[in-house]
Amino acid sequence: MSNTVADPGLAVIVLAAGQGTRMKSSLPKVLHPIGGRPLVGHVLHTALDLGPARVLVVVRHERDRVAAAVLADAPEVVVVDQDEVPGTGRAVEIALAQLPDFTGDVLVLSGDVPLLDVDTLSSLIRAHRESAAAVTLMSAILDDASGYGRIIRDGAGGVSRIVEQKDATADEAAVTEINAGVYVFQASPLRTQLARVGTGNAQGEKYLTDVVGLLRGEDLAVSASIVRDVALTLGVNDRVQLAEAGRILNARTVRRWQLEGATIVDPATTWIDVDAKLAPDVTVLPNTHVLGATVVESGATIGPDTSLVDCEVGEGATVRRSDATLAVIGAGATVGPFSYLRPGTVLGAHGKIGTFVETKNSTIGEGSKVPHLSYVGDTTIGRGVNLGAGAITANYDDLTKHRTEIGDEVHTGSHNVFVAPVRIGDGAKTGAGAVIRKDVPAGALALSVAPQRNVEGWVEKNRPGTGAADVAARARSAQKADDGTQEEDR
Ligand code: UD1
Ligand code: CA
Repeated sequence: MSNTVADPGLAVIVLAAGQGTRMKSSLPKVLHPIGGRPLVGHVLHTALDLGPARVLVVVRHERDRVAAAVLADAPEVVVVDQDEVPGTGRAVEIALAQLPDFTGDVLVLSGDVPLLDVDTLSSLIRAHRESAAAVTLMSAILDDASGYGRIIRDGAGGVSRIVEQKDATADEAAVTEINAGVYVFQASPLRTQLARVGTGNAQGEKYLTDVVGLLRGEDLAVSASIVRDVALTLGVNDRVQLAEAGRILNARTVRRWQLEGATIVDPATTWIDVDAKLAPDVTVLPNTHVLGATVVESGATIGPDTSLVDCEVGEGATVRRSDATLAVIGAGATVGPFSYLRPGTVLGAHGKIGTFVETKNSTIGEGSKVPHLSYVGDTTIGRGVNLGAGAITANYDDLTKHRTEIGDEVHTGSHNVFVAPVRIGDGAKTGAGAVIRKDVPAGALALSVAPQRNVEGWVEKNRPGTGAADVAARARSAQKADDGTQEEDR
């Protein structure tokens, strides 16, 4: 996104005041995300990349929520409030009032048309300036034009007006050239004609599209540029179109990273958010989601069946069938299969988080391993450590969370519980099944399990007649005979 004004003769108005009734959602339509960014965010990024003098966003429905999201994404835009008069024409009129002295070109974009790119818009603006038309609009030919406004052309092929689907006659509705909702207007005639637009239509709204017919009526030039790639103009009005736009955006993102040198084995099942980054020679295996601001360094292999949200994955690391959020995975480290890395997990270089391991707010040092069946929370682990299978940090005592601190080169036995707060010194060891409630000094062996006691003959005495008693009796007499023979041999 660039903040430099490369084109002072251009202002952009983004329409985002509508409710989006067809979404049937409590979330305003333009805030529904694709590729990890709200629909309107995609439009704003593209608008700002054109380097215009101003970008204005018109809001009304859920005004505060939309304005906050817009400003979080693009603080340099100006938020304008639409009044109670409905319609895209009113939205543009209100925004134009913020630009009283502006006489350049006004690009109007819809907050719900997210896939338009800078190149397509730049050529639309160039065509507009070369033709000196009062408006140049973008149209597309669709197999299924339903829901869109139709472009009505005269006998000579010129655009005479736009008619909305709800106002169209059967003949007009049969037209397959649609209005993409993207226009470049000369500011002055736009201002003049908007003042004349009424609300006498099926929706009782002040339509921006009516300006086209009015300009034509004033004998001003109106031009339409037909876009070949219809995906660019896809408008999101319902959840079917939302998924479609998300799929097309994802295909674009996957292709971009493939051309940058990432191997993406199955584009159809790989989802990459627009803010994620993949270095060359990263391999992404099927069914993998690389989300948020995740960065994957070169030589790393991600997947299959893996989801990463806002993670950093170091060079040559491997993450297999796992789920991670806000985790840092060091160079050459391995994760999975089947592990869950929660926020604040930092795995050092060449470390390992193995199978069925959950980690949270924990640092695991260089070369250290948590290989099997463990929970590691609020823990600091040094270098070269091996936690035995089934290690559990009991970090929560019902009131607060406490830390477990484990030094360098510590090896713990299987099935240990570390009752935090607790510290294990450098080089220490623990026995199998230990419950570590007290600090373990450096180099000590900690044992907390009572010595084992065997009660001989218990089963034969207490469970007579059972299969267990029978086999035990047989084994015990064979053992006695064997002991006797050994006695004789001696
Ligand atoms: C609009 C066009 C239609 C075109 C289609 C392309 C009009 C009258 N119709 O129809 O010709 O084919 O886009 O996608 O312009 N908005 C406001 N204020 C309002 C109403 C809407 O800001 O009072 C915003 C919406 O938030 C949305 C955009 O304008 O981002 C378009 O509104 P929408 O209701 O989706 O218009 P369509 O029926 O799709
Ligand atoms: Ca729309």
